[in-house]
Amino acid sequence: MSQEFVKVASTSDVPSGSLKAVDLGQDQIVIANVNGKYYAIGRECNHAKWDLSEGELEGESITCAGHGAKWNLKTGEGSFPMPLESEPVYDVKVDGSDILLKKRE
Ligand code: FES
Repeated sequence: MSQEFVKVASTSDVPSGSLKAVDLGQDQIVIANVNGKYYAIGRECNHAKWDLSEGELEGESITCAGHGAKWNLKTGEGSFPMPLESEPVYDVKVDGSDILLKKRE
């Protein structure tokens, strides 16, 4: 069953260079704005559950505020420095000022 895109935020909620926590059903997600391009991955760090929306955006990755694991926003892959289980990745669509997400199959 394919999912539909669902509105989770407005573009004004996520200025360039920022992170925002949103929920989509049961999923806890962090949206990142990298120079006007939006990414979304699961926000509970797979190392020890810190909230990635409190991490630091660097290029196209988030560094977890907990212990410094790096999460690739394009692939959901994490390293600490060994690989961690990947975060789910969400497709992002911008429609006017709406940000919509859909879990990547
Ligand atoms: S909880 Fe994220 S690096 Fe430890």
